[in-house]
Amino acid sequence: MSIIRIDGGRRLYGTVSVHGAKNSVLPIMAAALLACGETVIHNCPNLSDVDAATRILVHLGCIVNREGAKVYVDSKTLTRSDIPHELMREMRSSVIFLGAIMARLGEAVLSLPGGCELGPRPIDLHLSALRAMGAEIDEEGGNIVCKAKSLKGCRINLAFPSVGATENVMLAAAKCAGTTIITNAACEPEIWDLQSYMRRLGIKVHGAGTSIITIEGCGQKGNTEHWVIPDRIVAATYMACAASSGGMIELTNVYPGHILAVTETLEEMGCEIKTGSDTILINADKPRKAVKPIITKPYPGFPTDAQPPVMAASLTADGTTVFVENIFENRYRHVAELRRMGADIKTEGRVAIVSGVKKLHGAPITSTDLRGGASLLVAALGAEGITEISGVAHIDRGYDDITGVLESLGADILKFD
Ligand code: UD1
Repeated sequence: MSIIRIDGGRRLYGTVSVHGAKNSVLPIMAAALLACGETVIHNCPNLSDVDAATRILVHLGCIVNREGAKVYVDSKTLTRSDIPHELMREMRSSVIFLGAIMARLGEAVLSLPGGCELGPRPIDLHLSALRAMGAEIDEEGGNIVCKAKSLKGCRINLAFPSVGATENVMLAAAKCAGTTIITNAACEPEIWDLQSYMRRLGIKVHGAGTSIITIEGCGQKGNTEHWVIPDRIVAATYMACAASSGGMIELTNVYPGHILAVTETLEEMGCEIKTGSDTILINADKPRKAVKPIITKPYPGFPTDAQPPVMAASLTADGTTVFVENIFENRYRHVAELRRMGADIKTEGRVAIVSGVKKLHGAPITSTDLRGGASLLVAALGAEGITEISGVAHIDRGYDDITGVLESLGADILKFD
């Protein structure tokens, strides 16, 4: 069980190249099943969630190799259609394999992902969409048994623009007869990235990035390569680190247009931000002030995944900042840990009220989920004294060598077992 130890209060200074997006790589690894050939995924981050997706592909019979930031997936040899509980449990988002396995084999057996650290994470929208496409689904004994002689294209209106449900329908529709039209689809950049990859396979997909996506099922296959987009949440986290430590960081390999809601908030907080086509420079040498309510929403609204790190950056801002978490029920688990560092935060249901304090102090704290864990790092960088963070495995799910990166920026940080 690793621990990260930070002696806070040093201004961070330097350049960070943002790695590929976890939330793009995972559905693209699932989509590689559609290729029936070899896919080379470039800009693939080294994350424990990517390792978990690799174990699933290998279990299914695929050949997967990694060379640095390149991952090779050969799905010609796919033989199985089941994902056992041990593998599903490692990564809740493994449900995105469902659509791809159905498209390739017409049957899939997965254990239910169940609840997670962010609260219940139902998959009713995924399942009702697959049923509308002609799948028969039994949910028994904690398993989902999904079968279809042939899936058929149809119109699917999602009751909520779920990222995972949109991806699952896109994948399931890729080889089915007829045209599938998803309305109220999620518009996140990662959906657009999935569409780009599917197009490289010759699948006709249109509309990603808008709320209407059309997929014409077809049987294209072959070898292909794909370059994953930069991780906007990692970028937001490093910006929050700059803000909390009063430092200056240049991000490279980033798409500023993907995180406008976050940059606008940090500017309002008093940070100076300059963007280029694929760079962001953030200078946080001025005192921070509270901002108008931060309300998480589907893209292009303020991302729920950036709420915890930005909250950590607001803890020593002058005034009161209100957060409203609209996407996940249980996304304030970091609050109790931040309070141990002297933060003044009150929560009531979906609302958290941060009253800025003059300073935070180091404390022993525990990461309870991925982005909550990142928020503890952000707070510790700006706190006086030593913070020891346990539960680091959560952070490793989504940040490639974050301790090495922060050390290169001047943080006094050490990871040890
Ligand atoms: C994805 C991201 C996650 C991000 C989230 C919202 C990946 C691997 N993960 O998660 O980092 O925080 O989008 O931007 O891409 N819901 C239902 N029924 C369903 C599906 C979802 O009620 O069938 C609800 C969820 O409980 C949640 C909300 O819809 O409250 C959003 O979930 P969704 O967009 O599906 O998130 P994920 O795809 O799980």
